[in-house]
Amino acid sequence: MAEKLVLFAMAMAMTMMVLISASAEVPTIFIFGDSTADVGTNNFLPHSKFRANFPHNGIDFPHARPTGRFSNGLNSADFLAKLLGHKRSPPPFLSLIKSSAGVKKHSFRGISFASGGSGLLDLTGQRMPTMMKFGAERVPTDDLHSNLTNVIPLTEQRKQFKAVHGHLMAALGKSEAKKFLSKSLVFISTASNDIFEYYHSGSTMPKETFISTLGLAYEKHLKALLNLGARKFGIISVPPIGCCPSQRIYNSTGGCLEILNEYARAFHASIESLLCKLSSEYKDMKYSLGNTFEMTINVLNNPFLFNFTDVQTACCGAGRFNAQSICDPKANLCSNRNQNLFWDLFHPTQAASNLAAVTLYGGEPRFVSPINFAQLAAA
Ligand SMILES: *[C@@H]1O[C@H](CO)[C@@H](O)[C@H](O)[C@H]1NC(C)=O
Ligand SMILES: *[C@@H]1O[C@H](CO)[C@@H](O)[C@H](O)[C@H]1NC(C)=O
Ligand SMILES: *[C@@H]1O[C@H](CO)[C@@H](O)[C@H](O)[C@H]1NC(C)=O
Repeated sequence: MAEKLVLFAMAMAMTMMVLISASAEVPTIFIFGDSTADVGTNNFLPHSKFRANFPHNGIDFPHARPTGRFSNGLNSADFLAKLLGHKRSPPPFLSLIKSSAGVKKHSFRGISFASGGSGLLDLTGQRMPTMMKFGAERVPTDDLHSNLTNVIPLTEQRKQFKAVHGHLMAALGKSEAKKFLSKSLVFISTASNDIFEYYHSGSTMPKETFISTLGLAYEKHLKALLNLGARKFGIISVPPIGCCPSQRIYNSTGGCLEILNEYARAFHASIESLLCKLSSEYKDMKYSLGNTFEMTINVLNNPFLFNFTDVQTACCGAGRFNAQSICDPKANLCSNRNQNLFWDLFHPTQAASNLAAVTLYGGEPRFVSPINFAQLAAA
C-alpha cells in the first residue's frame, strides 16, 4: 500500500513537472512603439530630443541607472515581459547591431524596436511638437523637417524587424521561420504622439479625417507585420492623454484636457474595428486589445484602491503640476514614488506601469479584449 502511494506520488510529481515545464516556455517577444515601451533605443540617436538616459530617470532601476526608460524604474514593456518569463523587456535592436551575432542571438528571444517620440505616422516626432518646447530644448524652426534622426518611426521599426525576419529565415529555413514567427508575440504601444502633435500643431484637418488617417496607417503597419509572419498581437491603445500632467496645464481648472481624451476614445473605437476586420482576413491571427483608456480612468476615479495618493502631478519635474519641465537632474522629485501615477509630464511611474502590465496580462474584458495577454500567449 505504502509502495503504491509512493509510486502515485512520483507519478503526480512527474505530471506536475511536465505541466510546469510546459507553462514555463518563455515566448519570443517583439516590441514596437513609443516611449511607453522604449528601453533605450533613442540612446543610439545622438541628436534625438526624446531621451531619458539621465537622472532622475532610473532612480529605482537596479544601481539607480538611467537606461533611457522614461520611468523611475521599469516600464510596462518590462513588466509584461517579466510576467511572460523574461527578466525584463528584450533589448533595443540598435543596441545589438554592433555585432552580427547580437541580432542573430536575440532574434530567438526577442527584440525591442520601440522609440520614444515616435507614432504611427512617419513625421510624428521628427518635428518638435509645441508642447515639448521648453527653454533650451526649443528647436529652431529651420530644424523642422531637416533632421530625421529624432526618433525611429514605425515604418523604420518595421524595416528593422524585416532584418530580424531575414536572420530567422537564414537560420531556420522558410517553413520553420514561419512557424516560429507565428508563435512569437508582437506588442505595439503607439499613437499618443500622433494625437499630441495633431492637436498642438493646430492642424485644420477634421477630426474624423485624422482618426481615419491613423487607422489606415495602423492597418498598413499591421499588414506588413502579418505578411512577415507575425500572428499574435498585443495592441496597447491610447490612454486618456488629456489627463497627463503636461496637458492639465492647458486647462485653467487643472482638469483633464477633454478634447485629447475624445481623440483617444475615437482612436480606440477605430482600432477595435480594424483588428476585428484583419482577424477575419487572416484566419490564424490572434490579438488582445488593451484598453488603457478604461484602465487609467478607473485609477483616476479610484486612486486609493490602487494605493495612489497623487494622480495629477508629475513626480519628477518643475512648475505647475511639475509638468513645465522634463525630468532632469535639476527637477523636483516627489517623496513617495510608489504613490504617484505619473513619473514625469507624460509617463507613468514604475508602480503605475506594473499595474498596467498586470491588468493587460490577466485583466477582464472591460480592460483587455477579446482575450487578455496571458490568453494570447497561451493561444
Ligand atoms: C541633425 O541635427 C544635429 C544637431 O541639431 C546635427 O549635428 C546633424 O548634423 C543633423 N543631421 C542631419 C542629417 O541633418
Ligand atoms: C477642464 O476640466 C474640467 C473639469 O475640472 C472639465 O469640466 C472641462 O471640460 C475641462 N476643460 C477643457 C478645455 O478640457
Ligand atoms: C495597497 O497597499 C496595501 C498595504 O500596503 C496592500 O495590501 C495592497 O495589496 C495594495 N494594493 C494594490 C492594488 O497594490
